[in-house]
Amino acid sequence: MSLDDLYRRVIMDHYQKPRNKGKIEDGSVTVDLNNPTCGDKISVQMRIEDGKIEEAKFLGEGCSISLASASMMTEAVKGLSVDEALLLVERFSQMMQGEDIDTEEFPLEDIEALQGVTKFPARIKCATLAWKALEKGAKESTNNR
Ligand code: FES
Repeated sequence: MSLDDLYRRVIMDHYQKPRNKGKIEDGSVTVDLNNPTCGDKISVQMRIEDGKIEEAKFLGEGCSISLASASMMTEAVKGLSVDEALLLVERFSQMMQGEDIDTEEFPLEDIEALQGVTKFPARIKCATLAWKALEKGAKESTNNR
């Protein structure tokens, strides 16, 4: 199987069996964003306690890449501090610009599959939508600290 096929399979797995889809009853942060190029929407909710992301969930209407990315993002940020999550957002954005990133710092796991999206510049906004929502929510929670 080629790397592209593997990446595609991982993305489809998250799209068809999204992790952390739904709402958090006692969520402390909710961010709704849309992709202006297509109008697709995502809502990311987090429960942040003492600067740590205890829970993250999402709801959305969008393409396979945007929803798979949201599923991967919510998996990756659970248990991270807000500062670590913001650093992860920065690394993800570097990855989307085609840069190699240090996987020792953050094990990418399934997120690596989104690297293939960099070959399709029009889809980069799909992949980054949930991450932009994470960034906004994390920054808001820092301002409210
Ligand atoms: Fe709308 Fe991908 S086409 S988010």
